[in-house]
Parts: sequence; C-alpha cells; structure tokens
Amino acid sequence: MCGIVGYIGTQQAGPLLLEGLARLEHRGYDSAGAAVLAPSGLRVAKRAGRVADLREALPGRFTGRAGIGHTRWATHGPATDANAHPHLDATGRVAVVHNGIIDNAAALRAELTAAGVDLRSDTDTEVLAHLVGRSTAETLEARVAEALARVEGTYGLAVLHADFPDRIVVARLGSPIVVGVGEKEMHVASDIAALVRYTTTVAHLDDGEIATVTAGGFTTYRLDRADLTHSPRAAAALDVDVSSYDVPEGSGHMWREILEQPAAVERTLRGRLDERFGTAHLGGLNLDPRETRAIRRVKVLGCGSAYYVGQMGASLIEELARIPADAEAASEFRYRDPVIEPDTLYVAVSQSGETIDTLLAVQEVRRKGGRVVGLVNVVGSAIAREVDGGIYLHAGPEVAVASTKALTTMYVGFALLALQLGRVRDLSIADGKRIVAALQELPGLVEETLDLAEPLAEVAHELAAAESLFYIGRVRGYPVAREGAQKLKEVTYRHAEAYPTSELKHGPLALVSPAVPTVALVPLDELTDRNVAALHEVAARGGPLVVVTHADVDLGDVPCRRVDVPRSERELDPLLMTIPLQLLAVHAATHLGLDVDKPRNLAKSVTVE
Ligand code: G6P
Repeated sequence: MCGIVGYIGTQQAGPLLLEGLARLEHRGYDSAGAAVLAPSGLRVAKRAGRVADLREALPGRFTGRAGIGHTRWATHGPATDANAHPHLDATGRVAVVHNGIIDNAAALRAELTAAGVDLRSDTDTEVLAHLVGRSTAETLEARVAEALARVEGTYGLAVLHADFPDRIVVARLGSPIVVGVGEKEMHVASDIAALVRYTTTVAHLDDGEIATVTAGGFTTYRLDRADLTHSPRAAAALDVDVSSYDVPEGSGHMWREILEQPAAVERTLRGRLDERFGTAHLGGLNLDPRETRAIRRVKVLGCGSAYYVGQMGASLIEELARIPADAEAASEFRYRDPVIEPDTLYVAVSQSGETIDTLLAVQEVRRKGGRVVGLVNVVGSAIAREVDGGIYLHAGPEVAVASTKALTTMYVGFALLALQLGRVRDLSIADGKRIVAALQELPGLVEETLDLAEPLAEVAHELAAAESLFYIGRVRGYPVAREGAQKLKEVTYRHAEAYPTSELKHGPLALVSPAVPTVALVPLDELTDRNVAALHEVAARGGPLVVVTHADVDLGDVPCRRVDVPRSERELDPLLMTIPLQLLAVHAATHLGLDVDKPRNLAKSVTVE
C-alpha cells in the first residue's frame, strides 16, 4: 500500500529518498515520486511503474537537502504519472505526499475548481496541496492544520514548502507516520522498514498529531480542528533486527520467512509456558481469572490470512476452553451494526497492527463497550495501542506480502490463549500438560516439516500447470484449506477455491475434472475415513489429487500425490499442515517465473478502506 519517506539534513536527499522508497516496495504500489527542495524551488519527479522507473526519470539536477517521496497504490484515478505523488499547489511551491483517503475530496475538488484552480490529477491528495498553498496563516504548521480542518477522511502525510525550507511538516490520522532521529538529520516514513538503515531511534505519531521535522529535531502538536497545542513526545529506541529488512540474497523474503518459522514459533512461546500447571502465562492480556470465567463467547476479527488463522484459532478455543467461538472478516463486521455483548471476548488478529478494517472493527467494539484483546506482531502499532490487552507474536519483521511466519505465530498465540482460558475453566491439568508438551516440541516439528521443501517442488510444478484448483478440508482442516488456497492465489494468480470436504457433493464436484486438481487435507483424526471416502469421489471423476496427510493414514488405492506431515497433538496439527501449502505456493510461483515478494495488485498492509 502507499508509502511515505522524507529526509532533512546535511546530505543530498534524492538518493536517500529513492533508497527509502525501494525499501517500501514490498508493501505493493503502482507508481512512485519524489520532490526535493533546491535553492531555486522544488524539483519534482514522478512516474507510473516501479521505483527503478522513477530513478530513470529523475531530472539532471535533482539536488536538495530536504525532500519527500511516495509509492502510490491507486485509489482515486489510475496509475499514471500525473496521479503519482507528490502533488503540488498552483504556485508549485508546495508539495504533498499522502496515504489514506480524503472522503470529501469530490466536494473540495468542486470548490477549488469553482475558485479557478486548475486541478492536474484525479486524486484526492491534490486538494491538500492546494488547501495548504492557499492558506495565508503565518507558519507552515498552521497552514497544514487549516487544510486538515477542511478534510474528512484518513491521512498520513508529509508537506514540503519552498517558503519554509528548514522543515517538513507531517501529520497522522488513521495512517502511520514515524519520525526517525539521526545525527544532524531527520527521517520520516510511513513504515520503519524505510528508516532502519539510518536510525533505530524513532517516534510514532499518534492519530490527531502533527509534527515539525527540521534537521535538528522534531516537535509534536495535537491538532484540534485548526488549533495546535504543543504535545511533547520523546523518541525511543526500536528493538529490531535491522538485517530482517535487507533483501536476502537469492530467494527473497517469502522464502526466508518460511524458513524462519521454527525460530519465530520459539520466540512466541518463550517464557509463556507453565509446565507445572499445564497452562500459559499471558500477562499482557490483562484478564484476571474471575473475568476469564465470565466470558461466554469469543469472537475473532481479522482480514485475509489473519481471518483464516482466526477461524483456526476460534476452533482451538472452542475445543480447549469449551467457549463458543467463531471468526469473522473484520472488513465486514463493522458494517452490519454488530451487537456487542459484555460477556464476549473480542480478539483482533493482525500482523501489521495497521490494517484499517481490523482497526475500525476494534474501535466499533470499544465504542459499544466491548472488551477486545489483540494478537499483533508489530509492537506499538495502531491496533496494539487501541486494544485492552494482548499477545505480541514476536515473529520478527514480516516483509513479504503473503503471510507465512506471522500466520504460524498467530496460531501459536491462539494455542496459548486457548490454554490459558481453558485452564481457568474446564480443561484438565492432564490435557493442559499434553498441550504444553506439544507446544514445546513444535519448533522442532516445524523444522521437520520444512524438510518437505525439496520433495514438494515437483508436485508444485504440476499444480502450477492448472488454471483452477480446489483445496478441501474438514472442521479443523477447512480454514487450513482456505489459507492454502489464499496463498496459492496471492503468489501464482491461479484460481484456487477452498471448500469443506463435506460440501464437495453439494456443488463443486460438478467442476472436478482432469484439468482441475484438488489439494486435500486428511489428518489422522476422527474424520479420516470420511475424508478418504471423499477422495474416492474426486478420483472417480478423474480429478488429480494432492493429499496432505499423516504417515499412519491408510489412503487405500486412491491415486494421488501423497504428502506426509509430521504429527503433533491433533489440536496443533492444523498449524503443521499450513506449511506444505506455503511451500506448494512458493514453488509454483517461482516455477511460473513470478516475483513472490511483490504479487500484483496486493499490498502488505491495507491501510485504506
Ligand atoms: C493484506 C495482506 C494479507 C494479510 C492481510 C491482513 O491483505 O495482503 O497477506 O493477511 O492484509 O494483514 P494484517 O497485517 O492485519 O495481518
């Protein structure tokens, strides 16, 4: 999704901005642009396409020690040079880059046109440049505040003004802005990925804040309509492994993140298991035993892969804690005016902690007096700050668009939550200890499952030849099938559809043919025989089968490609079964010559509705 970078200091801004933009590429975008402040005024370059295209398009003298840059993900108007950011005001002395959506852009565009302003793009952002440019307030901060008082919607933005050459003004409402502190220089970004090479001392703006950034430091203000009140904020050191953001040699981020899963799972578990009482310790949840006992339902909210793992997590909670639990797409939840019950525990799941649909769902729950906890990877992100308590995943930075290690650690987070809820309620100490022991073995089993990486290449190449595929699984296996289909869609652009195995004969069987393979999940559990019967139905119609199963399962004479996954306890088996599906997707995409780290039309974190 759109990305922002900014620099002010003693070095040339241009190369730093381009480097920062390249570091935001993984988020997904379709055009890029930058502006620097030269003594004679602003120099601007913008292009539809990649950051590499922008680099080619830079004018000869793109020099200046302050600048802003942007990667755009088209919302208002197609990906064209004119619609790329930065946008300028009529005088060409104001440049604005913006993430988010201005809801009243149409009205403001009409108003500006009526006032004789010649709009040069289809974007909502351009109005911001004109509003700042037309303000006559004394300071740049006041001009930006005046402009923002006119707009409805969400923004993370950075403004450069030739009449105020010593500063960049940034603001945040619903879309992240981070300020990075350097030595006589300052950086600005919408994602720390763009900053970590230069500094790990940062300040995250809060919603409703605006900041002045100069070479020597930054000052934050709270914005109340057009009024600014000084609200001091200190920068703090980030605790990150900077190398996680470097593009790995050879195979790319998604491969690396798949291979990092054993270590990521270990980090999620660290210090949280209690062998003696067969439970988990999740201090950050802020739920005492009495409150835990009062929970009557659990509702999980998330988007994309976080929603599918939410379904897996809801099943785990229902199974271990015996509390009715389900998951819902956070993107739909808010729009059906949901009834929020005081004895329901809402759980928001998000890798980035910035997904706008999940954030708005959390706000809806809180606004109606509900209690919501988070399963979030990015520390200090918007959702992490909004919830009543939560579990940090500690997966480490996930850069590839298609989620792998974050999803695995979300599953582990749910297992810990289910264990803690269960042990306060009816889960026996014996069962608690059984799950604790299985969790302790999990990093090793994940590692063992990754041994499938090589053998699965050939199977994946066969699947890549198909235009359309089914993924099927039952009960615990169904959300795994959904996630598997999602992974394949995201990186191969093949049509993959997930069904509960039990639903095959109620429709999709009509499409099964030699051209439509089925990937079936058949764990060793109480439904194995029924699952095997369904495989026969597929095989009888000539449908090629890939069966992800356990070594002890007898598949009889079903013609198939068999993939045996190591076994854990049945409650944790779904997690191990997601791994071969990741491997199939990444192999298939690589075989098709696609860039798995930058799938078309997708963004790492979707920060607009
Ligand atoms: C986007 C990404 C998905 C991700 C979803 C939720 O759609 O492309 O891979 O699962 O957002 O992201 P979150 O950061 O909230 O987990």
